[in-house]
Amino acid sequence: MEVIKQVNIIREKMQALRCSGKRIGFVATMGALHEGHLQLLRASAKENDITVCSIFVNPTQFNNPEDYKLYPRTSEQDIALLKTVNCDYLFEPDASEIYTQQTLLQFSFGALEAVMEGEHRPGHFNGVATIVSKLFHYITPHRAYFGQKDLQQVAVVRQLVQALSFDLELICFPTVREQNGLAMSSRNKRLTEEQRQVATNLYKVLQLAAGKLRENSVQSIKQEVAAFLQDTGQIKLEYFEVAHPDTLQPVQNVQEVKEVKEVALCIAAHVGEVRLIDNMLVNLNDA
Ligand code: PAF
Repeated sequence: MEVIKQVNIIREKMQALRCSGKRIGFVATMGALHEGHLQLLRASAKENDITVCSIFVNPTQFNNPEDYKLYPRTSEQDIALLKTVNCDYLFEPDASEIYTQQTLLQFSFGALEAVMEGEHRPGHFNGVATIVSKLFHYITPHRAYFGQKDLQQVAVVRQLVQALSFDLELICFPTVREQNGLAMSSRNKRLTEEQRQVATNLYKVLQLAAGKLRENSVQSIKQEVAAFLQDTGQIKLEYFEVAHPDTLQPVQNVQEVKEVKEVALCIAAHVGEVRLIDNMLVNLNDA
Protein backbone atom coordinates (compact mmCIF):
# COMPACT_ATOMS: atom_id res chain seq x y z
CA MET A 1 0.00 0.00 0.00
CA GLU A 2 1.30 3.41 -0.95
CA VAL A 3 0.77 6.30 1.48
CA ILE A 4 0.33 9.67 -0.23
CA LYS A 5 0.15 12.99 1.56
CA GLN A 6 0.15 15.50 -1.29
CA VAL A 7 -2.82 16.52 -3.40
CA ASN A 8 -0.81 16.89 -6.63
CA ILE A 9 0.62 13.38 -6.25
CA ILE A 10 -2.71 11.65 -5.55
CA ARG A 11 -4.21 13.54 -8.51
CA GLU A 12 -1.40 12.39 -10.86
CA LYS A 13 -1.63 8.77 -9.70
CA MET A 14 -5.41 8.62 -10.03
CA GLN A 15 -5.41 10.28 -13.45
CA ALA A 16 -2.83 7.77 -14.71
CA LEU A 17 -4.83 4.84 -13.30
CA ARG A 18 -8.07 6.09 -14.84
CA CYS A 19 -6.38 6.61 -18.21
CA SER A 20 -5.09 3.04 -18.13
CA GLY A 21 -8.70 1.85 -17.69
CA LYS A 22 -8.56 0.92 -14.01
CA ARG A 23 -11.75 1.15 -11.95
CA ILE A 24 -11.25 3.05 -8.71
CA GLY A 25 -13.15 2.38 -5.48
CA PHE A 26 -12.94 4.95 -2.69
CA VAL A 27 -13.67 4.97 1.04
CA ALA A 28 -13.46 8.37 2.76
CA THR A 29 -12.75 8.18 6.49
CA MET A 30 -11.52 10.23 9.41
CA GLY A 31 -9.43 7.30 10.63
CA ALA A 32 -9.70 5.35 13.90
CA LEU A 33 -10.77 2.55 11.59
CA HIS A 34 -13.12 -0.19 12.72
CA GLU A 35 -14.95 -3.14 11.20
CA GLY A 36 -17.54 -0.81 9.62
CA HIS A 37 -14.80 0.86 7.55
CA LEU A 38 -13.13 -2.47 6.79
CA GLN A 39 -16.38 -3.83 5.40
CA LEU A 40 -16.54 -0.91 2.95
CA LEU A 41 -12.89 -1.37 2.01
CA ARG A 42 -13.31 -5.11 1.42
CA ALA A 43 -16.31 -4.44 -0.82
CA SER A 44 -14.30 -1.87 -2.74
CA ALA A 45 -11.34 -4.24 -3.16
CA LYS A 46 -13.71 -6.89 -4.50
CA GLU A 47 -15.61 -4.65 -6.90
CA ASN A 48 -12.83 -2.42 -8.29
CA ASP A 49 -9.28 -2.70 -9.65
CA ILE A 50 -7.88 -0.14 -7.22
CA THR A 51 -9.00 0.80 -3.71
CA VAL A 52 -8.20 4.16 -2.17
CA CYS A 53 -8.85 5.09 1.46
CA SER A 54 -8.54 8.64 2.76
CA ILE A 55 -7.88 9.46 6.38
CA PHE A 56 -8.43 13.10 7.20
CA VAL A 57 -9.98 14.51 10.36
CA ASN A 58 -11.72 17.33 8.59
CA PRO A 59 -11.74 20.47 10.77
CA THR A 60 -14.51 22.24 8.83
CA GLN A 61 -17.17 19.67 9.73
CA PHE A 62 -16.72 19.96 13.50
CA ASN A 63 -19.03 22.49 15.08
CA ASN A 64 -17.46 21.74 18.46
CA PRO A 65 -13.68 22.46 18.72
CA GLU A 66 -13.32 20.08 21.70
CA ASP A 67 -14.84 17.24 19.63
CA TYR A 68 -12.26 17.95 16.89
CA LYS A 69 -9.40 18.01 19.38
CA LEU A 70 -10.47 14.75 21.05
CA TYR A 71 -11.38 12.87 17.87
CA PRO A 72 -9.34 9.62 18.03
CA ARG A 73 -6.22 9.59 15.84
CA THR A 74 -4.67 6.15 15.44
CA SER A 75 -2.63 6.39 12.24
CA GLU A 76 -0.23 3.47 12.80
CA GLN A 77 -2.99 1.07 13.75
CA ASP A 78 -5.06 2.27 10.78
CA ILE A 79 -2.21 1.61 8.35
CA ALA A 80 -1.81 -1.92 9.72
CA LEU A 81 -5.55 -2.55 9.30
CA LEU A 82 -5.61 -1.15 5.75
CA LYS A 83 -2.92 -3.62 4.77
CA THR A 84 -5.22 -6.50 5.79
CA VAL A 85 -7.98 -5.47 3.35
CA ASN A 86 -5.96 -5.01 0.16
CA CYS A 87 -6.12 -1.23 0.14
CA ASP A 88 -3.82 0.07 -2.62
CA TYR A 89 -3.50 3.74 -1.67
CA LEU A 90 -3.94 5.68 1.54
CA PHE A 91 -4.40 9.40 1.07
CA GLU A 92 -3.53 10.99 4.41
CA PRO A 93 -3.04 14.73 3.94
CA ASP A 94 -2.41 17.45 6.51
CA ALA A 95 -5.05 20.16 6.86
CA SER A 96 -2.69 22.73 5.25
CA GLU A 97 -2.61 20.59 2.10
CA ILE A 98 -6.41 20.59 1.79
CA TYR A 99 -7.28 24.05 3.00
CA THR A 100 -4.64 26.25 1.39
CA GLN A 101 -6.83 29.25 2.10
CA GLN A 102 -9.93 29.86 4.14
CA THR A 103 -12.91 28.50 2.26
CA LEU A 104 -16.03 30.64 2.01
CA LEU A 105 -17.90 28.10 -0.06
CA GLN A 106 -21.48 27.54 1.11
CA PHE A 107 -23.59 24.54 0.20
CA SER A 108 -27.29 24.38 0.78
CA PHE A 109 -29.17 21.12 1.06
CA GLY A 110 -32.53 22.70 1.81
CA ALA A 111 -34.90 20.75 4.03
CA LEU A 112 -32.45 17.86 4.29
CA GLU A 113 -30.05 19.86 6.43
CA ALA A 114 -32.73 21.56 8.52
CA VAL A 115 -33.30 18.43 10.58
CA MET A 116 -31.40 16.16 12.97
CA GLU A 117 -27.61 16.41 12.39
CA GLY A 118 -28.01 19.51 10.26
CA GLU A 119 -30.12 21.21 12.90
CA HIS A 120 -28.03 20.14 15.89
CA ARG A 121 -24.59 20.61 14.30
CA PRO A 122 -24.71 23.91 12.41
CA GLY A 123 -22.23 23.99 9.53
CA HIS A 124 -21.53 20.26 9.80
CA PHE A 125 -22.87 19.29 6.38
CA ASN A 126 -21.23 22.29 4.75
CA GLY A 127 -17.90 20.92 6.01
CA VAL A 128 -18.77 17.39 4.91
CA ALA A 129 -19.83 18.55 1.44
CA THR A 130 -16.67 20.65 1.07
CA ILE A 131 -14.28 17.85 1.93
CA VAL A 132 -16.19 15.13 0.08
CA SER A 133 -16.25 17.32 -3.07
CA LYS A 134 -12.52 17.95 -2.80
CA LEU A 135 -11.79 14.24 -2.27
CA PHE A 136 -13.99 13.24 -5.21
CA HIS A 137 -12.11 15.74 -7.40
CA TYR A 138 -8.69 14.43 -6.33
CA ILE A 139 -9.51 10.73 -6.45
CA THR A 140 -12.10 10.62 -9.25
CA PRO A 141 -13.54 7.31 -8.04
CA HIS A 142 -15.89 5.16 -10.09
CA ARG A 143 -17.50 3.97 -6.86
CA ALA A 144 -17.62 5.59 -3.42
CA TYR A 145 -18.61 3.60 -0.34
CA PHE A 146 -20.36 5.05 2.73
CA GLY A 147 -21.89 3.54 5.86
CA GLN A 148 -25.57 3.71 6.78
CA LYS A 149 -24.65 4.69 10.32
CA ASP A 150 -24.37 8.25 8.99
CA LEU A 151 -27.69 7.99 7.18
CA GLN A 152 -28.21 11.71 6.78
CA GLN A 153 -24.65 12.14 5.52
CA VAL A 154 -25.37 9.54 2.83
CA ALA A 155 -28.48 11.50 1.79
CA VAL A 156 -26.46 14.75 1.70
CA VAL A 157 -23.67 13.14 -0.36
CA ARG A 158 -26.28 11.65 -2.71
CA GLN A 159 -27.73 15.14 -3.25
CA LEU A 160 -24.21 16.53 -3.73
CA VAL A 161 -23.29 13.90 -6.32
CA GLN A 162 -26.47 14.65 -8.23
CA ALA A 163 -26.23 18.44 -8.00
CA LEU A 164 -22.55 18.61 -9.02
CA SER A 165 -22.78 15.74 -11.55
CA PHE A 166 -20.01 13.66 -10.03
CA ASP A 167 -19.60 10.70 -12.34
CA LEU A 168 -19.61 7.96 -9.72
CA GLU A 169 -21.78 5.35 -8.11
CA LEU A 170 -22.58 5.87 -4.46
CA ILE A 171 -22.85 2.68 -2.46
CA CYS A 172 -24.26 2.49 1.06
CA PHE A 173 -23.58 -0.41 3.41
CA PRO A 174 -25.61 -1.34 6.52
CA THR A 175 -24.29 -0.38 9.94
CA VAL A 176 -21.90 -2.87 11.51
CA ARG A 177 -22.62 -3.56 15.20
CA GLU A 178 -20.74 -5.05 18.12
CA GLN A 179 -22.26 -8.32 19.37
CA ASN A 180 -24.09 -6.33 22.03
CA GLY A 181 -25.72 -4.11 19.39
CA LEU A 182 -23.57 -0.99 19.78
CA ALA A 183 -23.10 0.60 16.35
CA MET A 184 -19.41 0.68 15.44
CA SER A 185 -18.06 4.21 15.45
CA SER A 186 -14.63 5.79 15.73
CA ARG A 187 -15.99 7.78 18.67
CA ASN A 188 -16.55 4.53 20.61
CA LYS A 189 -12.79 4.61 21.23
CA ARG A 190 -13.43 7.49 23.61
CA LEU A 191 -15.87 5.48 25.76
CA THR A 192 -14.85 3.68 28.94
CA GLU A 193 -15.79 -0.01 29.24
CA GLU A 194 -18.75 0.96 31.43
CA GLN A 195 -19.89 3.65 29.00
CA ARG A 196 -19.71 1.15 26.12
CA GLN A 197 -22.13 -1.02 28.04
CA VAL A 198 -24.42 1.95 28.74
CA ALA A 199 -24.29 2.97 25.07
CA THR A 200 -25.88 -0.33 24.01
CA ASN A 201 -29.14 1.21 25.23
CA LEU A 202 -29.25 3.29 22.05
CA TYR A 203 -29.72 0.16 19.96
CA LYS A 204 -32.11 -1.29 22.55
CA VAL A 205 -34.31 1.78 22.42
CA LEU A 206 -34.33 1.76 18.60
CA GLN A 207 -35.53 -1.85 18.73
CA LEU A 208 -38.14 -0.93 21.32
CA ALA A 209 -39.39 1.94 19.17
CA ALA A 210 -39.44 -0.26 16.04
CA GLY A 211 -41.69 -2.73 17.82
CA LYS A 212 -44.20 0.00 18.68
CA LEU A 213 -44.53 1.68 15.30
CA ARG A 214 -47.63 -0.12 14.18
CA GLU A 215 -49.70 0.38 17.34
CA ASN A 216 -48.50 3.65 18.83
CA SER A 217 -48.40 7.28 17.77
CA VAL A 218 -45.03 8.82 16.95
CA GLN A 219 -45.56 11.26 19.80
CA SER A 220 -46.01 8.52 22.38
CA ILE A 221 -43.03 6.55 21.02
CA LYS A 222 -40.90 9.67 21.40
CA GLN A 223 -42.01 9.97 25.01
CA GLU A 224 -41.20 6.32 25.69
CA VAL A 225 -37.76 6.64 24.12
CA ALA A 226 -36.99 9.70 26.24
CA ALA A 227 -38.21 7.94 29.42
CA PHE A 228 -36.26 4.75 28.65
CA LEU A 229 -33.01 6.67 28.19
CA GLN A 230 -33.66 8.87 31.20
CA ASP A 231 -34.01 5.72 33.33
CA THR A 232 -30.47 4.66 32.43
CA GLY A 233 -29.34 7.76 34.33
CA GLN A 234 -26.30 8.03 32.06
CA ILE A 235 -27.58 8.98 28.62
CA LYS A 236 -28.53 12.49 27.55
CA LEU A 237 -30.88 12.34 24.57
CA GLU A 238 -30.33 15.01 21.92
CA TYR A 239 -32.99 13.88 19.49
CA PHE A 240 -34.99 10.89 18.45
CA GLU A 241 -36.89 11.12 15.16
CA VAL A 242 -39.08 8.95 13.03
CA ALA A 243 -38.17 10.08 9.53
CA HIS A 244 -38.83 9.41 5.87
CA PRO A 245 -36.05 7.05 4.72
CA ASP A 246 -34.92 9.21 1.76
CA THR A 247 -35.81 12.81 2.56
CA LEU A 248 -35.23 12.33 6.31
CA GLN A 249 -38.09 14.68 7.01
CA PRO A 250 -39.90 13.92 10.27
CA VAL A 251 -42.92 11.68 10.07
CA GLN A 252 -45.73 12.63 12.46
CA ASN A 253 -47.97 9.76 11.58
CA VAL A 254 -46.72 6.41 10.31
CA GLN A 255 -49.83 6.07 8.11
CA GLU A 256 -48.42 8.98 6.06
CA VAL A 257 -45.52 6.87 4.82
CA LYS A 258 -47.28 3.56 4.36
CA GLU A 259 -46.77 3.90 0.60
CA VAL A 260 -42.95 3.95 1.01
CA LYS A 261 -43.21 0.99 3.40
CA GLU A 262 -40.20 2.05 5.43
CA VAL A 263 -39.22 4.63 8.03
CA ALA A 264 -35.86 5.60 9.53
CA LEU A 265 -35.57 5.77 13.30
CA CYS A 266 -32.72 8.15 14.08
CA ILE A 267 -31.15 8.98 17.41
CA ALA A 268 -28.37 11.19 18.79
CA ALA A 269 -27.35 11.13 22.43
CA HIS A 270 -24.46 11.84 24.76
CA VAL A 271 -22.85 9.14 26.86
CA GLY A 272 -20.57 11.07 29.18
CA GLU A 273 -18.75 13.55 26.95
CA VAL A 274 -19.13 11.46 23.81
CA ARG A 275 -21.84 12.20 21.27
CA LEU A 276 -23.15 9.11 19.49
CA ILE A 277 -25.63 8.62 16.66
CA ASP A 278 -27.43 5.54 15.44
CA ASN A 279 -30.37 4.68 13.21
CA MET A 280 -32.50 1.81 12.03
CA LEU A 281 -34.54 1.39 8.87
CA VAL A 282 -37.82 -0.31 9.70
CA ASN A 283 -40.03 -2.01 7.16
CA LEU A 284 -43.56 -1.10 8.19
CA ASN A 285 -44.87 -4.46 7.07
CA ASP A 286 -42.62 -6.11 9.68
CA ALA A 287 -43.23 -3.55 12.44
O1 PAF B 1 -18.06 9.90 7.79
C1 PAF B 1 -16.93 10.41 7.93
O2 PAF B 1 -16.00 9.83 8.47
C2 PAF B 1 -16.71 11.82 7.43
O3 PAF B 1 -17.83 12.62 7.60
C3 PAF B 1 -16.20 11.89 5.97
C4 PAF B 1 -17.23 11.35 5.00
C5 PAF B 1 -14.91 11.10 5.84
C6 PAF B 1 -15.92 13.34 5.56
O4 PAF B 1 -14.94 13.89 6.39
